[in-house]
Amino acid sequence: MTSNPVRLFHLSDIHFGLEDREALAWVKREIAAKRPDAVAITGDHTMRARQREWDAATRWITGLDVPVTISIGNHDMPYFNPVERFVTPYKRFEGMKALVERELLLPGLAIVPLKTVRRWQPRLNWSKGWVTDEALVQCLAALDALPQGTKALVAVHHPLREVGTHGTALTRHGEQALTELARRKVLGVLSGHVHDPFDIAEPTSEGEVRMIGAGTLSHRLRSTPASFNELVWDGTTLSVTVRNVEHLPSRAMRIADVPPDAMPPRTEGQPVAPVGRVPPVDPPVH
Ligand SMILES: [Fe+2]
Ligand SMILES: [Fe+2]
Repeated sequence: MTSNPVRLFHLSDIHFGLEDREALAWVKREIAAKRPDAVAITGDHTMRARQREWDAATRWITGLDVPVTISIGNHDMPYFNPVERFVTPYKRFEGMKALVERELLLPGLAIVPLKTVRRWQPRLNWSKGWVTDEALVQCLAALDALPQGTKALVAVHHPLREVGTHGTALTRHGEQALTELARRKVLGVLSGHVHDPFDIAEPTSEGEVRMIGAGTLSHRLRSTPASFNELVWDGTTLSVTVRNVEHLPSRAMRIADVPPDAMPPRTEGQPVAPVGRVPPVDPPVH
């Protein structure tokens, strides 16, 4: 066990343009209070990759004043401009990345990206995941280049395998990627996209891989309230707690006459689904 555990906040799917401002204000307060060693955001920073959405995302992230690493999501590529999407699909994302990312200096721990988006796909739904050979080779090379003894979390946008949430990722070549990550004994794979949190050990032919998903901080809710994940690595164990906004007073609760049989709000910090699958309730939005 190390003397200084590493604390990470794992955020995802903020979707500026349809962001939940109350949830974001709460997360910002939590970051200021707990000062995590890093914040990892696993994609879908915007709704439609409009410049005003990138500007809002850049302002909010730089205002966190802690080291941040970001991953590209399917909503982070040009949506309205097909020429830009095909010619320079990652330009706006890379522009924000250059402004908001700081080098992460985490003792014995690295966060390595694996791209799961493509500018086009040979199937109708381009919002789903796809791990290209090039993306996987790049990720594995980064993992293999880590100093001996360094543990790794891999940051993706789409879960590499379906995880029982209502939203789907349908990631092509996700199985192969998961097997390669199992072989390298990564601590976990951080993802977003499905807008519900989860924490699952997935079996592969090379052993288990822990897949950890963060919910959304936008109004595009699925089955669970707006949330983020709090991770603590003590050198031996990685603990994951889902933090959600359910304890915050909602608009519906701001009424003059509270019914006498009203239920109290959930206790601060109580996880929605600390480990396991989140039962699907709402229809998918993607
Ligand atoms: Fe999303
Ligand atoms: Fe997504």
